[in-house]
Amino acid sequence: MGDEPAYAAANRANWDDRAGIHLESAFYDVEGWLRDQPGPRPREIDALGDVAGLRLLHLQCHFGLDTLAFARAGAEVTGLDFSPVAVGNARRLAERAGLAARATFVCADVYDAVEALGGDAFDIVYVSLGALCWLPSVDRWAAVVGALLAPGGRLYLHDVHPLAWSLSDDELTFAHTYFEEREPFVDDSDQTYTDATRPLAHRRSYEWNHSLGETVTALVAHGLRITQLTEHDWTVWQRWPWLVQTGPHQWSVPPAIPRLPLTFTLSADRVLPPEPR
Ligand SMILES: C[S@@+](CC[C@H](N)C(=O)[O-])C[C@H]1O[C@@H](n2cnc3c(N)ncnc32)[C@H](O)[C@@H]1O
Repeated sequence: MGDEPAYAAANRANWDDRAGIHLESAFYDVEGWLRDQPGPRPREIDALGDVAGLRLLHLQCHFGLDTLAFARAGAEVTGLDFSPVAVGNARRLAERAGLAARATFVCADVYDAVEALGGDAFDIVYVSLGALCWLPSVDRWAAVVGALLAPGGRLYLHDVHPLAWSLSDDELTFAHTYFEEREPFVDDSDQTYTDATRPLAHRRSYEWNHSLGETVTALVAHGLRITQLTEHDWTVWQRWPWLVQTGPHQWSVPPAIPRLPLTFTLSADRVLPPEPR
């Protein structure tokens, strides 16, 4: 990883630590996942329909739980992540789940995904929570998504809402810009978002926010047509102590506080190239 930018090297070391901690966490409950064999979530099935036989690429796949859920539904899945610890864990999990024949995991930076995947094109690019904030440019990410989707292919993105990223971790005040800026937020916390039996050894990480408008504009510029964009007043973990649990893996703003967008889902189609005249 000789010419890896300094921010990426720091973030990768931080994610290598987290990948080990998360595998053992009650939050991800890997043993329960192996036992219960969940497929994609209802909201993902509503958005993507039957994925059997489709080529699905999960960008920033972590240790592959969401990726492998789509393999259970019959997709040919590829997960890509820059953490070798996460990718190693994902490969072992695919073996343990009996899904290795339909699952490939690649270790690469998302910005190098086109080269790392050797020119393959996909029917679906899937991106799930906590992905865009690690990337300095949403336009560069959208270019990768556009290049990896086959014509007519689809993007499904569910991520933290940029308004929620701009809030402080402690209270309901603004701590960060809503917009993408050149300078990252620097985080030196030794904690992660799951339960943990040990602190992070590599604390420093770098994050960026990307406004909804910047994300949509970047996707359109790289050949995608937005078909759905929904802002949700819930998220999947207790980001603040004052959130109330409103479902399994669902935390919402309590009634006493005005509703805020905490996450968003976006679907988009790769526009077909124009017909030759
Ligand atoms: C919050 S996790 C995604 C979690 C996933 N939604 C889940 O619950 O399994 C973010 C992932 O992005 C990966 N990541 C961060 N920056 C990356 C980059 N530049 N290229 C590839 N992967 C990256 C991390 O290694 C980590 O696995």
